[in-house]
Amino acid sequence: MPSQPCKVPRAAVEFLDAAVEQVMPDENAMKAIAAALAERFGEDIAVDPALPGLNELAQIAGHRSHRRFLSRPVAPDLLRLLCACALSAPSKSDLQQCDIVVVTDTTIRAGIVATIPDMPWIMEAPAFLVFVANGERQPVLAKLHGKPFPNDHLDQFFNAAVDAAIVLATFLRAASAVGLGCCPISAVRDHSQTVSDLLRLPRRAIPVAGLCVGWPSQTGEITPRLSLRTTVIENRYGERDLAEEIDAYDRRRAALRPYRRQRNPERWGEAEFYGWSQDKARQYAVPTRADFGAFVRGKGFCLD
Ligand SMILES: Cc1cc2nc3c(=O)[nH]c(=O)nc-3n(C[C@H](O)[C@H](O)[C@H](O)COP(=O)(O)O)c2cc1C
Repeated sequence: MPSQPCKVPRAAVEFLDAAVEQVMPDENAMKAIAAALAERFGEDIAVDPALPGLNELAQIAGHRSHRRFLSRPVAPDLLRLLCACALSAPSKSDLQQCDIVVVTDTTIRAGIVATIPDMPWIMEAPAFLVFVANGERQPVLAKLHGKPFPNDHLDQFFNAAVDAAIVLATFLRAASAVGLGCCPISAVRDHSQTVSDLLRLPRRAIPVAGLCVGWPSQTGEITPRLSLRTTVIENRYGERDLAEEIDAYDRRRAALRPYRRQRNPERWGEAEFYGWSQDKARQYAVPTRADFGAFVRGKGFCLD
């Protein structure tokens, strides 16, 4: 007698289908996380397949900055949703000292880009935002309620800048979740006063970073980071050979992502081996933003 096909109730089939959908992406996600982190840090990092949220971790582990975009616009409603998600980030003492300027006026954007001529992707990105550390409201609160404000010192600036950085990072996460690519732009601080004037930033409001946002036209590449033995410390720092750790990173990184060109060879010559540390040393051998402290003070922050 031929065997009867087993009748599985419809609901169970649907449940199994859903489970397979859950398991498969998670398994893929687990592999994606492991691969991304191995490329990033040069070591195998254990990923428990039973962890929830593996897809989100895969997005985070696979982070890359994007500088090339499709011409497809980013809908204003989507940008607003992402701003709302980003501003849902935690805030020091609930002080909420970050604002986001969505630069839709091409004249204003062109004015900003004119201060950063070597980064054409800023003008080419479908959307451009500026994340602002805004300490303006705190003294206003004190005044509104007739209270003294004895905390007008470096911590106020620092708190506002940290809040802005957290909101920026949260925006990056939110944007990546919907498939958008981003590139932060600290170069908006190359000419802070000009950018501040263009955006009419109030007193005690500082541009922390711009952000190019768009639908990526390329997948981009993972940038290797310093080894976790250098940047994750258990309990307390101990003896270490920083030069050796940096050299190991330079070589691991150069094997995967060699620099396409050397920085400032007219001044420094062509190095036989050109790694990350050589590049950063050359980058910071040129003074930049030396007037930033004066600008921040001029905006009304006390940095003492
Ligand atoms: C606060 C901040 C400012 C940045 N400013 C710039 C910038 O002005 N121009 C630029 O092309 N990239 C900028 N970047 C992107 C970095 O160059 C990039 O994060 C770094 O090279 C590592 O690459 P990855 O993000 O793809 O891992 C910035 C990133 C951060 C977090």
